[in-house]
Amino acid sequence: MDGSQPGGVETGGPRTVIREARPEDAVGIARVHVASWRSTYAGIVPASYLVGLSEGAAAMRWFNAVQTRGPGRGSFVVADAEDQVIGFSTFGARRTPVDNFAGEIYAIYLDEDAKGQGIGRQLMSAMAERLLLGGIRTAVVWCLRDNPSRWFYERLGGVRVAERPIHFGGKAMTEIAYGWRDLTALAQLSAGPEMRS
Ligand SMILES: CC(C)(COP(=O)(O)OP(=O)(O)OC[C@H]1O[C@@H](n2cnc3c(N)ncnc32)[C@H](O)[C@@H]1OP(=O)(O)O)[C@@H](O)C(=O)NCCC(=O)NCCS
Repeated sequence: MDGSQPGGVETGGPRTVIREARPEDAVGIARVHVASWRSTYAGIVPASYLVGLSEGAAAMRWFNAVQTRGPGRGSFVVADAEDQVIGFSTFGARRTPVDNFAGEIYAIYLDEDAKGQGIGRQLMSAMAERLLLGGIRTAVVWCLRDNPSRWFYERLGGVRVAERPIHFGGKAMTEIAYGWRDLTALAQLSAGPEMRS
C-alpha cells in the first residue's frame, strides 16, 4: 500500500482506511492507545499503572511523534468513515540491538470493535512495505509474553528471537521479540489470501 496517498488505502473493514498519521490525529491515537492498553493489559500489567495512563499526556507525545517520518519510519492510523481514529501503528529503526535486525515495529493497537477483520495484517504489511522502501529489510517487535496478541505475530511469520525482563508498575514481566529476517513476504501479505501461509 502507499500510505503517502492523501486518501489512504481501504481496509477490509466497513469503510475504513489506513493512511499516514497527521498531527491532528494525536488526540484520537491517544484515545485508542489508552483504551487498548487498559483492555489488552488488564490482569497482566498492574491496575495502578493502567489507571495512571493519561490521554492528555499521550496526545502530547503522539503530536510530536507523528511528525517524525521518513522512508523507513512513520506512523499509520486506521480511520473510520467519519475519519475517527480506530487504530494506529508506528515503526522505524530498531531501538535495542537484537542480532542483526535493523527495523522495529514500535506499536500496533486497534479499538476492540476493529479487531478480527484483517486490519492488523494490513497494518503490518503497510509497515513492512514502508521499511523496505527505506532500505530496512528486517524487523522485530517486542511483545509481553503474557499478551495473547503475540500469536498474531506468529501467524504472520514472526519468529521468537529474543527475550528480556521489563517492569511495569513495579511488576517484573518478560517481553519476547518476534523477528522477520526478510520483510518481503510480510509486505506482500495484503496482496491476497494466496500470499498467506
Ligand atoms: C494484535 C492486533 C493488532 C491484531 O489485529 P487484528 O486486526 O485483530 O488481526 P487480523 O484480523 O489482521 O488477524 C490476522 C491473523 O492473526 C490471527 N490473530 C489475530 N489475533 C490473534 C490472537 N490474539 N491469537 C491468535 N491469532 C490471532 C487472526 O486469526 C488472523 O489469522 P488468519 O490468517 O488465520 O485469519 C489487534 O488484535 C490488537 O490491537 N490487539 C490488542 C493490542 C495489542 O496487543 N497489540 C500488540 C502489542 S505488542
